[in-house]
Amino acid sequence: MGLDLFIEVEKTMNIKLFLSAAILVGSSQAVYAGDMDNGKKLYAANCAACHQAMGQGIPGAFPPLAGSDYLMADKQRAISIPVKGLQGKVTVNGTDYNSAMPSFGHLSDQKIADIMSYVMNSWGNEGESVTAEEVAQARAN
Ligand code: HEC
Repeated sequence: MGLDLFIEVEKTMNIKLFLSAAILVGSSQAVYAGDMDNGKKLYAANCAACHQAMGQGIPGAFPPLAGSDYLMADKQRAISIPVKGLQGKVTVNGTDYNSAMPSFGHLSDQKIADIMSYVMNSWGNEGESVTAEEVAQARAN
């Protein structure tokens, strides 16, 4: 145990400090870059297990979000799905599903807004972005 070790430890700490500073800068940039980056992460964590990474769903089990006519036909209805969950028959691109999706109402209005902005503007979908106010409205309805 001598000066060398001390210097090594100090170097490691400097690297850690540098890394955490870089991560902080990186994450604050992600926030300012808009909702899409955050929406992508939240989608991966909350939705992709069923609807899959590219929104393609799983035939016969989980309907697609990519290119979904049901999703894009009615923005208000679409926002209420993660807020309240969904059960009963839905027809997506001509295929019937009669299953159940749990609610994600425990996520904040902003998080659901970011997810829906991402979903409605990814994999070929071209929609409007979704605001936290619109999610709050869906919650109240
Ligand atoms: C546990 C599996 C599961 C998870 C996780 C899940 N869903 Fe679903 N989702 C379903 C099922 C099943 C349906 C069809 C429900 C029915 O048949 O009534 C559905 C339907 C939908 C629909 C309407 C149909 C369509 O394809 O356009 C949307 C929109 C949707 N989900 C969005 C989301 C979003 C956003 C998330 C993440 C916050 C999410 N889902 C998480 C299983 C899931």
